[in-house]
Amino acid sequence: MVLVPSGPPAIGHNPLALLRYLRAFQTSPLEFVGGRFARYGDLYTTSIRGTPLFVTRHPEHIHEVLVSKGASFAKPETGLGAKQLRRFLGRGLVTSNGDFWRRQRRMINPAFGRKRIEALGDVMVAHARALGERWRPGETRDIAEDMMSLTLGIVAKTLFDHDPRGEEDRIARALDAFRSFSGPSVLLPEWVPLASVQRPRRALADVNEIVYGLIDSRRAEPESALAARNDLLSALVLATSEPDGEAPGARMTREELRDEILTLFLAGHETTSQALTWTWYLLSQHPDVEAQLHHEVDSVLQGQPATSASQLPVTDRILSESMRLFPPVTTIPRVAIEDVEVGGYRVPAGADMICWVYFAQRDPRWWREAERFDPDRFLPERFATVVRGAYTPFGAGQRQCIGRHFSLMEARLLLATLAQRYRLRLAAGHRVEKRIAVTMSPRYGMRMTLEPRSIAAP
Ligand code: HEM
Repeated sequence: MVLVPSGPPAIGHNPLALLRYLRAFQTSPLEFVGGRFARYGDLYTTSIRGTPLFVTRHPEHIHEVLVSKGASFAKPETGLGAKQLRRFLGRGLVTSNGDFWRRQRRMINPAFGRKRIEALGDVMVAHARALGERWRPGETRDIAEDMMSLTLGIVAKTLFDHDPRGEEDRIARALDAFRSFSGPSVLLPEWVPLASVQRPRRALADVNEIVYGLIDSRRAEPESALAARNDLLSALVLATSEPDGEAPGARMTREELRDEILTLFLAGHETTSQALTWTWYLLSQHPDVEAQLHHEVDSVLQGQPATSASQLPVTDRILSESMRLFPPVTTIPRVAIEDVEVGGYRVPAGADMICWVYFAQRDPRWWREAERFDPDRFLPERFATVVRGAYTPFGAGQRQCIGRHFSLMEARLLLATLAQRYRLRLAAGHRVEKRIAVTMSPRYGMRMTLEPRSIAAP
């Protein structure tokens, strides 16, 4: 029997109704969507400008959409969020679909193999140690900003072997302009003389100049020099697609390289930085867990620098639990490419489908004391009992995050390295509120005071 979902009234073609809806959603997305789930249940439906929209928080639905029926869904190519991403990232891994995506993913996968990623561990630790050197005991800083520039520096170095000093500000400004560029202005043509259209357009031109510059200088190098380099850009310049019958595999064009590089650059630092920022916040609120972290880094590392081989299971569980409560990517959107059933509901071809990772990961039906920060839920024997689809911070199925190992290792190394020297306290009176845009960040940053551990620790 096919079930019939309920949901709020459709939004038609009236632009004012669409603007009202977007404003209500963007003002406080969690309350807006949470309220709808409370009213209509785990899956609700509506339609926007004639396109059906399904929204779910149920793990089984999420599993069907991403994994078991993943072939019936694609990444959205129209709609506000998708248009915004595509304008910036073109046809990179995050935004492409079908055969083109498959070809690109196969070409890029080897660069993310475990061995290659592990070779990057020392760079990550060196960057974290340098930040630790710059920090002054007792000072109060915006840790969200620090984590962003730390992961930005690391992604630039590991992916492009490019030290963005000097360029870093330019890239950061451009990314900022991109981040603030969400909402209805995405629908306007590029010539409209509004700041909300022109600022991101200029940001895009700026970023293109930097990235094409990097590509052109690599492509000018002899192949033997490229092969000797350890960075991902060189690997991508050399990568070839699978041979097509008699014809040899092809290389990526300059534009394809630009799209993939920008995609990896953007996807590769903001998410990890948010995960770390929220983790520092959670640790500051849970001294018992913080003590376990300190005990582990002190006893395992014995004052030595961490390496990619360091076994730090408590640190790993803290990060996993932090990404359960504060998933950097809160929703995973899809569009149905054929008629398909999800959770017994009929989803027609062309319908939009939104999987709410955030709500599945905080649902008391799947997580005991769901709001509590309890890293031990990720002990193997306890995690084995979690229902499938209830924990997907990196997505699932064929489109699962290509950078998962990269970011898990990076977050572990950065957290451990900085925790060797410092304990972070939330600044008195600092307001912590979630802001959901491309990723989930603290709306007012994260002002924290640095306490040196050598003094504070017994
Ligand atoms: C804590 C850190 C990270 C989180 C939470 C995260 C989350 C995600 C999620 C949820 C997806 C799947 C989206 C979907 O199915 O529509 C994804 C895809 C992707 N991520 Fe990550 N990510 C992280 C770090 C990284 C890093 C470090 C890189 C690269 C260096 C990266 C590159 C990508 C790419 C290229 C895709 C698209 C994969 C494809 O569709 O083939 N991510 N990520």
